[in-house]
Amino acid sequence: MAAPWITIKDMPQHVEEEVTIKGWMYNKRSSGKIHFLQIRDGSGFVQAVMVKKEVSPEEFEAAKKLWMEASVEITGTVRSDDRAPSGVELTVSNIKVNHNPTDEYPIGKKDHGVDFLLDNRHLWLRSQRQRAIMTIRERIVWSWRQFLHDRDFLLVDSPIITGAIGEGASGLFELDYFDQKAYLAQTGQLYAEAAAAAYGKVYCFGPTFRAEKSKTRRHLTEFWMLEPEVAYYDHKDNMDLQEALVSYTVEQVLEHCKEELALLERELSPLKSVLEGPFYRISYRDAVKKLNELGSSIEFGDDLGAEDETILTQQYDRPVFVECYPKGAKAFYMKENPDDKETVLCADLLAPEGYGEIIGGSQREDDLDKLTARMESDGLDMDSYGWYLDLRRYGTFVHSGFGIGLERTIAWICGLHHIREVIPWPRTIYRLNP
Ligand code: 4AD
Ligand code: MG
Repeated sequence: MAAPWITIKDMPQHVEEEVTIKGWMYNKRSSGKIHFLQIRDGSGFVQAVMVKKEVSPEEFEAAKKLWMEASVEITGTVRSDDRAPSGVELTVSNIKVNHNPTDEYPIGKKDHGVDFLLDNRHLWLRSQRQRAIMTIRERIVWSWRQFLHDRDFLLVDSPIITGAIGEGASGLFELDYFDQKAYLAQTGQLYAEAAAAAYGKVYCFGPTFRAEKSKTRRHLTEFWMLEPEVAYYDHKDNMDLQEALVSYTVEQVLEHCKEELALLERELSPLKSVLEGPFYRISYRDAVKKLNELGSSIEFGDDLGAEDETILTQQYDRPVFVECYPKGAKAFYMKENPDDKETVLCADLLAPEGYGEIIGGSQREDDLDKLTARMESDGLDMDSYGWYLDLRRYGTFVHSGFGIGLERTIAWICGLHHIREVIPWPRTIYRLNP
């Protein structure tokens, strides 16, 4: 009877059994009498030990000639081994080589520059480090969906092709939509607002597009954003929800991704301290004062620059909300602050350790006249917003929501410098391939 095919991840449950694993050889050491083959199969990594006298001479010879990333099926007995990271290794009785490359794998053991790695993203994804990042990415998405599902949020997807500008005229990807002008969505928010009027607590989650010319460590042209929107939540309810979501996310990653965080050499104490108290909340006006003291030349009216966010968040050991930005620095849909009419009821959540903005959120303008006036003064094409203004015509309501950027959240939680490494296929101003 053929040995059953199992994944490397499941090997510890099959100690002393004969099994088959199917994968790729990512490394090899040999002496005259023994080959140590490092095998990966997507679920994990394991060492397969091939002893000359225990396999046929042909197989031993074939294994000797394997190049990195050869595709193989290996049958053997699972042995427990305390020295192995997974606690097991495989004693090989048989190897089937599906494909042996004819030359050296381009991503060898050398240190490569990031451009080279990005050009070879399709291969780079095979590394242990990339696997750890993708695993944490999955855990974060999973925890977001779990968090919202547990609180009775309904997923209502928003379109990617849209006729209404979501954030502002700059940074738009325009396309020809038959005979009309259309855009790739900068946000699903306007649709989430309509859905909130229909179902109360909703969210959308999907790819989002910004024609960002900026070449920073925080900007992609295509990124993923989760956007919850809640009927009858005000600005403060909105921040409470964000705080609960972000805390839950960090908690879930700390609980489920210990190995991955270790592999990325992520210091855990800053993540743990996120859970040790409430997030900080400061007004934009106070943030400007503080930044001026720290040497920034920011003035009232300016949005916080990347550098401002970096220096500001270095002052805090937990995330900080910066509340109530000036009107002119923010999008048209934010509600005027009744206590300070130069500002709006919004908050950006800045991640600590210099990471900066991961969330933008606000209470929405629910007054038809104020909203219309602002949109007109921003020069928006009012014809494409009739449906959006209907939300203020038919039962207008206090409501709030926010957008959390997936890649910025991953980069922060993983402690990575640049967000291009946290999305499988990064899109930036200079990168369309692979
Ligand atoms: O602050 P932003 O622009 O807010 C919105 O789009 C709102 N409509 C969200 C809402 O209220 N429903 O973007 C929200 C988040 C940012 O905080 C950041 O995490 C991420 O989206 N983001 C980007 N991530 C990567 N690359 C870019 N170019 C990004 N632009 C925004
Ligand atoms: Mg923002």
